[in-house]
Amino acid sequence: MKHLTIACAVLACACADAAAPAIEKRIDALLARMTLEEKVGQLVQIGSGDFASGDVEKGPLDSHVVNAVVRGEAGLLISCCGIKKYNQLQKMAVEESRLGIPIMLGHDVIHGCRTVAPIPLGLSCAWDEDLWRGLAETFAVEARTRGIDWTFAPMLDVSRDARWGRIAECAGQDPFLASRYAASMVRGFQGDNPADGRHVAACLKHYVAYGACEGGRDYNTVELSDDTLRNVYLPPFEAGVRAGALTVMPAFHVMNGLPCSANPYLLRTTLRGRFGFEGMTVSDWGSVGELVPPRHGMYANLADAAAGAINAGMDVDMMSNAYRRHLVERVKAGVVKANVLDEAVRHVLRVKFALGLFEHPYADEKLLEKLDLKKHAEQMRVAAQRSVVLLKNEKRTLPLKRGTRVVLMGELGDNPSEMLGTWQTWDVPGENAALLAGLRADGVDVVYAPCYTMTGAVDVVAVTAAATNADLVVATFGELCGWAAAMNGENTSRADIGLPGEQDKVVEALRATGRPFVAVLFNGRPLAIPELADACDALVEAWNPGSSGGWGVADVMTGLAEPTGRLTVDFPHKTGECPLYYNRLETGRPWVDGDRWTTRYVDAPSPGRSLFSFGFGLSYTTFAYANEKAAVDGDKVVFTADVTNLGGRTGEEVVQVYVRDVVACVSRPRRELKGWQRVKLVGGETKSVRIEVPVSRLGFWHAGTRVAGEGEFNAWIAPDSDRGRLLTFNLGGAR
Ligand code: BGC
Repeated sequence: MKHLTIACAVLACACADAAAPAIEKRIDALLARMTLEEKVGQLVQIGSGDFASGDVEKGPLDSHVVNAVVRGEAGLLISCCGIKKYNQLQKMAVEESRLGIPIMLGHDVIHGCRTVAPIPLGLSCAWDEDLWRGLAETFAVEARTRGIDWTFAPMLDVSRDARWGRIAECAGQDPFLASRYAASMVRGFQGDNPADGRHVAACLKHYVAYGACEGGRDYNTVELSDDTLRNVYLPPFEAGVRAGALTVMPAFHVMNGLPCSANPYLLRTTLRGRFGFEGMTVSDWGSVGELVPPRHGMYANLADAAAGAINAGMDVDMMSNAYRRHLVERVKAGVVKANVLDEAVRHVLRVKFALGLFEHPYADEKLLEKLDLKKHAEQMRVAAQRSVVLLKNEKRTLPLKRGTRVVLMGELGDNPSEMLGTWQTWDVPGENAALLAGLRADGVDVVYAPCYTMTGAVDVVAVTAAATNADLVVATFGELCGWAAAMNGENTSRADIGLPGEQDKVVEALRATGRPFVAVLFNGRPLAIPELADACDALVEAWNPGSSGGWGVADVMTGLAEPTGRLTVDFPHKTGECPLYYNRLETGRPWVDGDRWTTRYVDAPSPGRSLFSFGFGLSYTTFAYANEKAAVDGDKVVFTADVTNLGGRTGEEVVQVYVRDVVACVSRPRRELKGWQRVKLVGGETKSVRIEVPVSRLGFWHAGTRVAGEGEFNAWIAPDSDRGRLLTFNLGGAR
């Protein structure tokens, strides 16, 4: 019996304090007993099954994996192998390996597992921290039912470029909103006690600025000033670390010449030194192996890459076998110091202790029976409702009126699996996923006439005939997201972000019929759709809304739920405007309509005007803002406004606070989000909204130092990033 003999008295640490003294002692004791090979084994992550043979959940245990676990050669596994196999492998690790150190199984549980929420970009449009946290709790407990104890989420890459397919996985373009999202998701995934068997370790990825890739092309090079890195791309990671995230995944790309996978400035100076991160870093899939020619070419061979990565601060090698093959020898040769190795092993063991794996190594095979998946489906329905952004609604086309004969069109109108979004590799019951089912459940008189696919030829005659037979057309548009033909998600960059295939022909055909039509978009990125936006009567941005998506989207379309989502990304008119973001610098010649010498495109209306801007979203009622004020009060600025619901329906407004530092030592963005508050108002009601912003939030990074906000500021308490009455306040100081 080779059970670990360390006393079990110590409770797993609270996640915010991964390095609790009692646990450190237990790690010291373990390190003292570990061989060099066993130490390296803790830094190796291999697949939990044979990928070549297909589904790793099915079939017998893979002997290669079994041997690695029993010999202590792989302390970490990736890809779900199912709960039973997980427990079998865990038993081998605990009972048959020399020191009985438990394994940990990571998998990408990004926005659901047994039930599925909208894609993260959609969720971000809910601007709702409680919703985010609650969802992550559900993702975590569902992951646990599959024996997964570590997820590779939340993805925190700020992205300003809609060409990049992975924008679907992130919380949009704003560092402040993404920071709030980061903290909520970490708290949800890990809970107050990640060791309670219902939570998982979170992983902040992809560290960092992966979304700033040149040309929006995935895996591509990033060139970025240190100021922009600190002001825009790092804040969500810092927020995630401060919320107690147990793991961080450096990104694939090269930044300013140095791959993130072997970048001591990012991994040591910033992550550990400045943010105080105490958990473990894990490479992205095979990225240590990508450090060699003909790829990044930073190291001549895999052995040097292994040494370079761990010396730079990469604790775990996911799937490149560089550590497994070469680290023992590199340590013996003195290229990697013993203390560097020990430090990395300590980080891994800390996470295993924090997850309670030493005390409770086995996953609860009865957990699934204890869950109420119907409740989860309801939660996903609410998430879908709240992620919808209503972008246009002429002549009160929506909500749908009772008795209207609706024809629903397009292959995405009744396609449950295409509603699930990126990273959905499981078979998730989809009875509530499709819009057709959702509309029917909500009592809409609807006929389904698919008429066209997302990529195929469009039968204009069929579209016209179907439209003519109905009072109202609901036409679905967008992108495919299923693994095989995905148009968003990993490595799905698009050089043209208009509607794929011949969907534009549908727009023209519908316009020609003169029938009122509602366009529903199912997509994972902002699309350049000026013609569609112009032609339709109502435009519903539904994203990939998840396993209850059809329900949730139909609820908003029928008015059972109010549209309360607001964009977290700008929509361009044309692809060539990317990257496009509201918090840009003004330039020396801010755009003025009609002025020949102000910054512009000759063939697009931007950069002064996005097709739809950050923060924008309509309700079924309208809101008015009055008495907006910004007042400095000690170490905070207090923003107040009276918001009135001008209509008859109850609605919910997302009141947003933006500022601009008017004069600073460097040019500052034209507007930056600094706070928001949701306010629910019945028809005719007025409420006073108060948003406090700490003065410290108004500073910025320049040349490696934090510059305090001083002097005059402009401010807007507004419904989106373009509107609002101009206010000023003054923080005093030297400027
Ligand atoms: C992706 C990561 C993911 C990892 C493990 C990589 O290809 O970039 O986001 O977590 O695979 O599946």
